[in-house]
Amino acid sequence: MTTITIRDNGPLVIQGPLTVVDAAGNQFSIPTEKPTVALCRCGQSKVKPFCDGSHKACSFTAAERAPAAPAAS
Ligand code: FES
Repeated sequence: MTTITIRDNGPLVIQGPLTVVDAAGNQFSIPTEKPTVALCRCGQSKVKPFCDGSHKACSFTAAERAPAAPAAS
C-alpha cells in the first residue's frame, strides 16, 4: 500500500511503491534504498519535483486536516 502524508508546512511524503514521471511520461530516478519520497508543494525547491528543504527558508505554511469521519450509527 502507498501512503501520502501531508506534512505541516512542508512536502508530501510518499511511502510505498511508486514511480514519479514528468508530463512527457519520463521517469525520475528515485534511490531504491530510500523508504520515502518527499515531493515539494511550496514551489521553492531547486530539485523539483522533490523537496530540498527550501520550504523552511520561505516560511511556507499549510496545515490541512482531513475531515472527521462520520460517526457510526
Ligand atoms: S516543500 Fe520542501 S522544498 Fe518545497
